[in-house]
Amino acid sequence: MRGATPVKTPRSSTSTVIQETISTEAARRFYDRLGVRHDWVGWWEARAKARATQLLDLRPGLRVLDVGVGTGRDHALVQAGVAPGGMTVGLDLSAVMLDLTRARTGAPVCRADARAVPFAGASFDRLFCAYVLDLLPARDLPETLAGFRRVIVPGGRMVLVTLTEGVSLSSRLFIAAWKALYAVSAAACGGCRPLQLAEMVRAAGFCGVWRETVVHLAVPSEIIVATR
Ligand SMILES: C[S@@+](CC[C@H](N)C(=O)[O-])C[C@H]1O[C@@H](n2cnc3c(N)ncnc32)[C@H](O)[C@@H]1O
Repeated sequence: MRGATPVKTPRSSTSTVIQETISTEAARRFYDRLGVRHDWVGWWEARAKARATQLLDLRPGLRVLDVGVGTGRDHALVQAGVAPGGMTVGLDLSAVMLDLTRARTGAPVCRADARAVPFAGASFDRLFCAYVLDLLPARDLPETLAGFRRVIVPGGRMVLVTLTEGVSLSSRLFIAAWKALYAVSAAACGGCRPLQLAEMVRAAGFCGVWRETVVHLAVPSEIIVATR
């Protein structure tokens, strides 16, 4: 996809216009090709994911769905956090990513689209989704969040991480440069663009929604914690 046309997003999102993204099929091909190299390019995500994993409040025996599990590196930490007696499932669109996760963790994996999680209602105590919603089409975000809510038990917790708008000079400059590159080629950015999701998460029916922004090496990430 060349360029990216901004689209009006649903009332429930934020005042920020969300850029359109690459197709789901293009995202799958991108991550199939990237494979384990995602570990090498994900250095800028490490601090936000460490914080998000802490906010998941993992305890032995919990059941966790990791949506867009990627190479499984973080999933191994999640798995350790619910042992003994817990259960984690890694979901991803990319078969390559799922093979990597299976090899790394031995955890059950599920090839599916984040926009339609194929599990019964109230199947998980926690849902973790890092750097995936920022790849999805804006129009699909409300339904995706509703699907996430459906599979979490009442009182269960969801933790989201996405690229977000800058909050400091360095992170604002980074996001301005990122958006300029994105406008030329969304595909070169893996379809990933900054989001601010708190309002949309509330509109999806979650409660206790709060957010924080973690800036690491000028890259701003939003962490959202919400309760079903
Ligand atoms: C940026 S990576 C993040 C991986 C991992 N969560 C992490 O933080 O390292 C995005 C992941 O989401 C997956 N993905 C992209 N679109 C998806 C979709 N519609 N449904 C499920 N997974 C998707 C990709 O295959 C890839 O593994």
